[in-house]
Amino acid sequence: MTERTVVVAAALLDAGRLLAARRSAPPELAGRWELPGGKVEPGERPEAALVRELREELGVDTEAVERVPGEWPLRAPYVLQVWTARLRPGSAAPAPLQDHDELRWLAPGEIWDVPWLDQDVPAVRETLTRLGTR
Ligand code: CDP
Repeated sequence: MTERTVVVAAALLDAGRLLAARRSAPPELAGRWELPGGKVEPGERPEAALVRELREELGVDTEAVERVPGEWPLRAPYVLQVWTARLRPGSAAPAPLQDHDELRWLAPGEIWDVPWLDQDVPAVRETLTRLGTR
């Protein structure tokens, strides 16, 4: 039986805005927006995977803050989990180094202005719910 593989994604927040990243690949996902992240490697803690993926994909130095409750199915065997995250002091600004061709910091009223990946929509919605109730 195939084990599931966790994909971690970041709700990276700065000054009350959420970072959205537009995918440049693969072709079936290109042009859609996501919470940046990637697959957790065997033996890796999800928070460590998040920090690693954000460094690789965006060139930023971040820390995971807290898990957004929930888990969303992707194409098997992948499942999506989300952590809020923040830039550490002295981090570079995010840049689209791989997988993405555009980044946007979305203010609360702009969150639904971009075409998110279908599978990210419930995760983004839950993230906003959590932020709004804190
Ligand atoms: O960088 P890595 O190869 O580890 O992962 P990825 O290719 O960025 O993401 C792994 C899978 O999760 C892909 O199929 C992405 O489409 C999916 N994913 C997603 O659906 N939503 C996200 N926010 C991040 C990744």
